[in-house]
Amino acid sequence: MNISVIYYSMTGSVYRLAQEVVAGAEEAGATVRLRRVPELIPLDIIESNPAMKQAAEAQQAVEVAMLEDLVWADGIALGSPTRYGNMAAQLKNFLDQTGPLWAQGQLVGKAVGFFTGAQTMHGGHESTILTMSTFAYHHGMVIVPASYAIPEVGATATGGTPYGPSELGSKPELSDHERAIARAFGRRLAEVAGKLRG
Ligand SMILES: Cc1cc2nc3c(=O)[nH]c(=O)nc-3n(C[C@H](O)[C@H](O)[C@H](O)COP(=O)(O)O)c2cc1C
Repeated sequence: MNISVIYYSMTGSVYRLAQEVVAGAEEAGATVRLRRVPELIPLDIIESNPAMKQAAEAQQAVEVAMLEDLVWADGIALGSPTRYGNMAAQLKNFLDQTGPLWAQGQLVGKAVGFFTGAQTMHGGHESTILTMSTFAYHHGMVIVPASYAIPEVGATATGGTPYGPSELGSKPELSDHERAIARAFGRRLAEVAGKLRG
């Protein structure tokens, strides 16, 4: 099965989660594309902010997402840091270009799941994933959650929700729990995508 992991990350946390989702999907035998959506922040602002500059350089080698990456995939993972409890404009901008795919029903029946990052425990992990997911309803996709079937989701004081993987606190590295949840989610997404493909 083909899996596309498409994300936005300004300072690297969601990128680290995306890499774990990729690893999990590959463990399940999927062919995986990791793709970042185009940046909308002006280059001079990024250049003047050390954290943003470093994250941009670290992601330079990741190919930029195209609509074809959605069509190619049997399963899709979409990731974004929270912005006031919703996805970042960069990912929304990409998803807002999927009208032609919607009109032709090209994403109907594909597996899809969502992941995020937030600075604070109660700052929007769940709301971001849930608001991202409206995209899937309109396209007729099959939502794959993380769920408490992944044991680490029950851990306290860490990212990772039943709705999808998440990172808490913009840390330099993911916690072991966050890493385990993202990997298990990647495996699950690939397995469900394989079943739906039949
Ligand atoms: C404009 C803006 C709004 C944000 N809103 C929230 C928020 O509502 N709740 C929260 O916990 N973190 C918020 N954050 C923090 C980021 O979501 C958090 O640092 C994120 O995990 C970083 O992901 P990244 O390293 O992949 O860019 C916000 C950051 C920015 C720049």
